[in-house]
Amino acid sequence: MKTAICYYSRHHGNTRKVLTAMAGEGNVDLIDVTACQAVCLEDYDCVGFASGIYGFEFQKAVLNAARQYLPQGKPVFFVYTYGGAKGHGAQSIAEIAREKGCPVLGEFSCKGYDTFGPFKLVGGIAKGHPNERDLEQARRFYRELKNTYERGAKT
Ligand SMILES: Cc1cc2nc3c(=O)[nH]c(=O)nc-3n(C[C@H](O)[C@H](O)[C@H](O)COP(=O)(O)O)c2cc1C
Repeated sequence: MKTAICYYSRHHGNTRKVLTAMAGEGNVDLIDVTACQAVCLEDYDCVGFASGIYGFEFQKAVLNAARQYLPQGKPVFFVYTYGGAKGHGAQSIAEIAREKGCPVLGEFSCKGYDTFGPFKLVGGIAKGHPNERDLEQARRFYRELKNTYERGAKT
């Protein structure tokens, strides 16, 4: 399964750490949506969208990338990290996928170190996350997703 994951990760690189763990399972291209002008997702079997949660939502650049570049009917999955209140989580990105008739293979989320605003004063929340346990769960999520996809592709 050839996979692209379009992501935004800025605050502490938490989401990027999770994606790097997933990519270690093989054949994954990580695409920073702020670092490329145009993205071609046609040639991938499956596309992930990933972000830290900012103001209860996926970061806008990831949503825009999905609107602009996600091909109709392409299998997708979602990954996000959050400090404490995941809010709507992957809701907005799932809506875009639904409009484009894209099957959703799964969703993974975990906590990510957060020093936004007042949290900085107390040394941040979700300290140490993603930790090794989070990363192992991320690897397992991706392995299972790959197995699900490959079983489906054979039938
Ligand atoms: C401007 C800003 C807004 C945030 N809003 C939320 C939020 O609404 N809910 C939440 O649980 N975490 C929130 N966080 C914390 C981030 O979601 C968390 O630290 C995440 O792991 C950041 O991912 P990144 O390091 O990959 O960018 C916010 C952080 C920043 C900097």
